[in-house]
Amino acid sequence: MARLIISADGPEKFDIWKKAFAEVAPDLSVLSWYASETRLQPSDYVLVWSPEADHYPALATAKAILCTGAGVDHLLNAPGFPRHIPLVRMGGEQTGQLMADYVTWAAIALLRQARTWALQQAEQRWACNTIARTTDATRIGVMGLGHLGGYVATHLARVGFRVSGWKRSPATLTGVTVYAGQEALSAFLETADILVNLLPSTPQTDGIISKEFLKRLPRGAGFINVGRGRHVVQTDLINALNAGILCGAVLDVVTPEPLPATSPLWTHPSIIITPHVASEASPLMQAQYVAEAVGQMERGEKPALLCDPQRGY
Ligand code: GLV
Repeated sequence: MARLIISADGPEKFDIWKKAFAEVAPDLSVLSWYASETRLQPSDYVLVWSPEADHYPALATAKAILCTGAGVDHLLNAPGFPRHIPLVRMGGEQTGQLMADYVTWAAIALLRQARTWALQQAEQRWACNTIARTTDATRIGVMGLGHLGGYVATHLARVGFRVSGWKRSPATLTGVTVYAGQEALSAFLETADILVNLLPSTPQTDGIISKEFLKRLPRGAGFINVGRGRHVVQTDLINALNAGILCGAVLDVVTPEPLPATSPLWTHPSIIITPHVASEASPLMQAQYVAEAVGQMERGEKPALLCDPQRGY
């Protein structure tokens, strides 16, 4: 029987995980990383979020590491993290659906300038901003068409947006115009009335959303960041909003997190901040995904979201 050692979310969350795995994978033996009797064996799988550095030597002896995050940059960038051990990113239906729902909400919030309503409500002020801008007249561009980006783009197309996507290599996706490679980036940006960032964080993508980059969008575009805060040059974003280059931004990820109370992002009249909550599936749905990935690896198969440390995601 395969064994899964849970380190994710600390010792206090173990019971929640254990219950979830008991429901979806009763054959999996689930142990707490923190139990004094737990001894890691080379055939063990480990579920982590952001383990302490002193866990790395033991993690280096696991069969595979599964992460509760869709992004694993925090692991790959950590000095001493055992990059040679197979690492699987979080995925699954619900993770994709939650992200698609969040981005749909954020896109419509930008279309209708919902931030203005929130500011008015805080002042108990009744002022009508009627905006006749519809989804079918709005071009939305999704940067990063991996597991989550694919979900988001096809969902937005179903909702009625005119959707394009940008990725490194060519692909086909129902209802989505795909732009591939660096040479297609400008053409992609020119068509994005709303830009959604879902890129993985790598040395090539960090800081990509800069002044020069934002200028390539149609004037007055909206921006949604559900990738990583590090992708954005924060002062360039604020300047672009102040100059009308962008009409608004919805940020689920920022640097640093938690965002300090002194950050100008909090109070900017054109920015909606959410506290990195766009897409976290329930423990049950995450457990189901993890159990399936463990099953695949036990059969010698390669899980779809196996990380390539060279590529960085
Ligand atoms: C959250 O950002 C994640 O990587 O799952």
